[in-house]
Amino acid sequence: MKIIVRKNEQSIKTNVVFVSKQGVKKCEGELEVLQGVFKGKWAETLFVPTTKDSQNTLFIGLGNETYFSYEKARRLAAVVYTSLKSRGQNTAKINIETLYKKNVSDWGKLVQAVTEGLILKSYKLEEYKSNNKKEEEKTICFCLPESHQQEAEKAVSKGVIIAESTNIAKDIATQPGNYMTPSLLAEQAQKHSQNTKIKVTVWDKKKLEQEKMGGILGVSAGSSEEPRFIIMEYKGATNPAEKPICFVGKGVTFDTGGISLKPGHAMDEMKFDMCGSTVVIGSLLAIEKLKLKVNVLGLIPATENMPGPSATKPGDILTARNKKTMEILNTDAEGRLILADALSYASEQKPQVIFDTATLTGAVLMALGNIYTGLFTKNEDLYTKIMTAAKNSGERVWRLPLMEEHTKDMDSTIADVSNLSFSRGAGSSTAAAFLEHFVDKNIPWAHFDIAGTSYNVEKRLEYCNHRTASGAMVRTFIELAQLYES
Ligand code: BES
Ligand code: ZN
Ligand code: ZN
Repeated sequence: MKIIVRKNEQSIKTNVVFVSKQGVKKCEGELEVLQGVFKGKWAETLFVPTTKDSQNTLFIGLGNETYFSYEKARRLAAVVYTSLKSRGQNTAKINIETLYKKNVSDWGKLVQAVTEGLILKSYKLEEYKSNNKKEEEKTICFCLPESHQQEAEKAVSKGVIIAESTNIAKDIATQPGNYMTPSLLAEQAQKHSQNTKIKVTVWDKKKLEQEKMGGILGVSAGSSEEPRFIIMEYKGATNPAEKPICFVGKGVTFDTGGISLKPGHAMDEMKFDMCGSTVVIGSLLAIEKLKLKVNVLGLIPATENMPGPSATKPGDILTARNKKTMEILNTDAEGRLILADALSYASEQKPQVIFDTATLTGAVLMALGNIYTGLFTKNEDLYTKIMTAAKNSGERVWRLPLMEEHTKDMDSTIADVSNLSFSRGAGSSTAAAFLEHFVDKNIPWAHFDIAGTSYNVEKRLEYCNHRTASGAMVRTFIELAQLYES
């Protein structure tokens, strides 16, 4: 997609105009075409082939402008993309001024959001269709007053970087399990980091054994695919010795549940069990391209979770990198076992802060649906920072409790910790309490459970697609990195 910024562009015939409910009222009489037909309701569309000046107009409803936001602008941009696509239109000019409202009055942020919405929506996994026809490139012109064009150009570049990096994350996560094994995931991290300042180191099975990564090895024991541990390093801080911020992401390239096998229904969705890892890859790629002045360490434990003759069994005990023993009561609670090693390793590196993200529990989907990502942290300052980042990214994050009781529920009779709670309910909190055992108490830490938000959210967020990863938390992680800039 090519995005250009102009005051106007006569050669492009389709004008995209946004109209709020309040706006329709004001237009009455002036634009008869809107009267009665178009109400300005959220995401409503009306295409009027030729209005004055032989231009087409695509009206898009913005809803009630009192509740308009940058995130809504991002979502409406996706509605524009879909409308143009369904009409086979490859060019359009978007009247940005019609999105400029009381709550949305920063031209840069607005243009960035619209850019992101358009590019996010344009992603589609197509390479497995044999009659795959490449779509013609779209040219979109943003029309806005000259005095804001410079700012808009910068915002477009920023939005392009963020959305394209998110699309890389979505693409890796949406690949089928047989095309995205742990070793192929590591290759993706390496491929996308080529010609960048990101250094990638990949540990194979032998190295994982030497490094005593007992959680990752235990989970991968049932699979013929070797596990990997992927280390991504970016040094952007003015002082290269500055402590990094650390991102950790669960990379289970397919989760069958292992010996505690999952039921067959919708098991294909477990190819998305690596969405956390792709948040790490996507956000590091964007942070590097944006040249943020911060040091970032990205860590990805990658494995399949399969049943097999040598698979870990319920009742087995594994030893994590920090020497804590873990009793496995359900092999389907595998994400926490591989994160145990990754968080232990992260703590050894003495970062300023650790953020991990994982499709960790079905319970978070029960609690927050596919609307909010579950957040766990005991650190109040960090909580405030995260909410600022989420507000800036437009992504929804909701804090859930992490308390002594949850920790107690994970006690094991014969090992240091059990991977399954002995109480009913609060499955996302007890999972977080398990993870806490592997984080150095002196390092601020937050855990994001994206099991509900990392795919199948197209009915909530117009810029996401059916049966496709959403890239949830990539934008928030980029915002977080910005908050740690030197
Ligand atoms: N990958 C799943 C969690 C998940 C569930 C992600 C639904 C996306 C959608 C995880 O490994 C898992 O299976 N967790 C178990 C833990 C339980 C056995 C304690 C769960 O949530 O059922
Ligand atoms: Zn599982
Ligand atoms: Zn899993």
